[in-house]
Amino acid sequence: MPVTVNAGTQLIPDPALIVLVGAAGSGKSTWAARHYLPTEIVSSDRLRAVVGSGEHDLDASDDAFSLLEHIVAARVGRRLTTVVDTLGLSPDRRRGYLAHARRAGLPAVAVLFDTDAAVCRQRNRSRDRSVPAAVLDAQLAQVRDTGGQLAAEGWDAVLRGSAGHETEPAHSPGSRGAALRQQDRPAGLEFILQISRFGWGEDPAGWLRSVASAAAEAGFAGLALMDHLIQIPQVGRSWEPIPEPWVTLGLLAGLDNGLRLGTLVTPVTFRPPGVLAKTVATLDALSGGRAFCGIGAGWWAREHAAFGLPFPSAGTRLAMLETEIEMLRALWQPGTKAYRGRHVHLPETTCYPRPVTPIPVIVGGSGERTLGIAARLADGCNLPSDVASLDARLPVLQAHCARAGRDPAEVTVTVLDVPVIGRDREHAAALVESLRGPTEAAAFARRHHAGVAADHIGRYRLLAERGVSAVFVSLPDLAGPGDLARLAPVVGSFA
Ligand code: UTP
Ligand code: MG
Repeated sequence: MPVTVNAGTQLIPDPALIVLVGAAGSGKSTWAARHYLPTEIVSSDRLRAVVGSGEHDLDASDDAFSLLEHIVAARVGRRLTTVVDTLGLSPDRRRGYLAHARRAGLPAVAVLFDTDAAVCRQRNRSRDRSVPAAVLDAQLAQVRDTGGQLAAEGWDAVLRGSAGHETEPAHSPGSRGAALRQQDRPAGLEFILQISRFGWGEDPAGWLRSVASAAAEAGFAGLALMDHLIQIPQVGRSWEPIPEPWVTLGLLAGLDNGLRLGTLVTPVTFRPPGVLAKTVATLDALSGGRAFCGIGAGWWAREHAAFGLPFPSAGTRLAMLETEIEMLRALWQPGTKAYRGRHVHLPETTCYPRPVTPIPVIVGGSGERTLGIAARLADGCNLPSDVASLDARLPVLQAHCARAGRDPAEVTVTVLDVPVIGRDREHAAALVESLRGPTEAAAFARRHHAGVAADHIGRYRLLAERGVSAVFVSLPDLAGPGDLARLAPVVGSFA
């Protein structure tokens, strides 16, 4: 089902501190329940019922508010969305909440409910326990004064309860507007599924086939595999399976689904460069020209030691990266003539089968020297997906291209993204909670851009607008083919 993004709604960053301000019956609790989870809403009425005889036990107010302060401080300190559902009419209390948000670096939003007085009175009258009319009148007068005060208090935004609202992930500012642009004038972007966890149970091949066919159905253009000898701690536990990628890609090449196939990334330290050239050319031949080769300098000492492989210094590995790319190109050229290049000398280049079409070489990594190698030698450069770091690295890559005399357009930019995609906001939060391990929930949500499909569409649009041509998506909760259905509307909106 396509995702629809609404225009003209007020955006509330997520996570944020949200302080409601309004008279009794103005609709604060109703609004809070519509937009937020029960655990995110801290209500003085609710807490009166917890420490007193009921929601209207005014004798319990002091205790309820001291609990409320405590809960707000604890939640905001963890950068968790917190909705303060009280009358909100005390400037001192508002200042206190705001100070907590500032300390935690959390956006702070006031939402004013200046509901028509007659409506509030009418709602109040029809309640079981009405507020005395004079008390309500005083509240209504105070709300009128508060409207002006809020503007001077330093809130990141002062919104009206009566307008439409949507949350926008604070980690991706501008994503909602970008999703609207994508809806109105779609940009193209290619998606490649990086499979990095293999919960295949007793049927590895069957599981791989089903995931591949679900990926093709969801609109992915290709599949990528990591190349590690032990499952990496960022993804799973070391006793979980992580198959040799080229063998696995060989199996996937036998499926008639048109998906492109390659590594993201293979480290230069695992195989002699000539053998890699042979392997990738074979994959290309077997898949009818669908191979790509993501390569990098390698980073994980442990897997090298465990498999008896040398793990030279970073400088040496980067030199190996240059040599490897040169070797791939030399052995993938047509003909068998001798090759004398910068780092590679070969008496002959007899490598059959030849690639069906030129195989794209994508360099992974974002260090200064790596970007230089990508700019000089690669067909693509794979960078981290967060917009801020992309904005920092793209100019560096472009400068390297200029120095190498290459048109930056010759080096396609791809990103690796590991998104948490929820069916709705609540599901996204539940996924974060189940995946975060010892990482703080707010930090994990930020790192994995947790959100719903529309959030990711907006974020990917921001990447497309920066010239990114393909996104490698690794689902951190990928268990089987069914999980790819959540990605289909995202991928589909860039088709
Ligand atoms: P709320 O219970 O949401 O008001 O709505 P409130 O601002 O939180 O009030 P206090 O401060 O806790 O007393 C009051 C009544 O108005 C109805 C709700 O169903 C509830 O019965 N209401 C609210 C609507 O009918 N429409 C709305 O848009 C909002
Ligand atoms: Mg209420």
